[in-house]
Amino acid sequence: MKDINDLTITAEVVKRLANTPDPRLREILETLVTHLHQFARDARLTEREWLAGIEYLTKTGQQCDAVRQEFILLSDTLGLSQLVVSQNHRRGRQRSEQTVLGPFFVDGLQPRFSQGDDIRGPAVGDPLYISATVRSDGEPVVGARVEIWQADAEGRYDVQSEGWSPEKSYLRAAFTTDAQGRFSCWTVLPKSYPIPMDGPVGDMMRATRRSPMRPAHVHFAIEKLGFDRLVTHVYVEGDEFLESDAVFGVRSSCIGRYEKHAPGTAADGRLIGTPYYTLLPTFEIERIPS
Ligand code: BEZ
Ligand code: FE
Repeated sequence: MKDINDLTITAEVVKRLANTPDPRLREILETLVTHLHQFARDARLTEREWLAGIEYLTKTGQQCDAVRQEFILLSDTLGLSQLVVSQNHRRGRQRSEQTVLGPFFVDGLQPRFSQGDDIRGPAVGDPLYISATVRSDGEPVVGARVEIWQADAEGRYDVQSEGWSPEKSYLRAAFTTDAQGRFSCWTVLPKSYPIPMDGPVGDMMRATRRSPMRPAHVHFAIEKLGFDRLVTHVYVEGDEFLESDAVFGVRSSCIGRYEKHAPGTAADGRLIGTPYYTLLPTFEIERIPS
């Protein structure tokens, strides 16, 4: 087709996707092209602005490496990550709700810690004892793999420290739930923190005068064959940023009670010489219908 104009070009591009053998790929590309073209028309995009967008995405890619994923951060801060998560895991509030994975999950890591361990490493912060239960339809889920990861009391993840390597990981661990569906560990009370602001996402947050803060939380990922993998957070009740999370990840059902205790003997028999906290969450995971 010759003489394509700014309106007829969409149908022509879609037509050229017609031979895509994978029907799902074809559907996704057709939808993408249609919306992308409409976006350019609706925003009356100039060539300069189009090029600025290309340069922005290029910088975003250049900011990515094995431990920094600026594209995920961009998706998170534009609300796309939580949208995709929510539309694929519709759950009532009585179930544990799914939230964004975030850029600090380290895939495939063999964490150094397991059940009952103290995972604090060199991290600063008040001691926190987590004792959690995994259930499904009211029954304990035995043998589930649980990964947890979190920032310290200064809002920093281990991967953000100079010279980080998997052998030096802390404030992240993997557990297997016991016969009662439980797992536990000692860690530190998390604090609210800003998302990484030293890359293109930071430029966007500053340009739009948005708060970069995430409310304090611990991340949990729970999986077992036959169940929908649960990726969620437990946020600290009362945190000042619960209403304005930079990545739209707060669900009321994911706010937990971090209870403060005076120094003394904790539930696992440990003597703690400073004030400490406990968190006792229950996670409900869903069986995948067979
Ligand atoms: C996080 O909680 O680790 C996180 C999630 C999304 C963006 C930035 C940080
Ligand atoms: Fe986090």
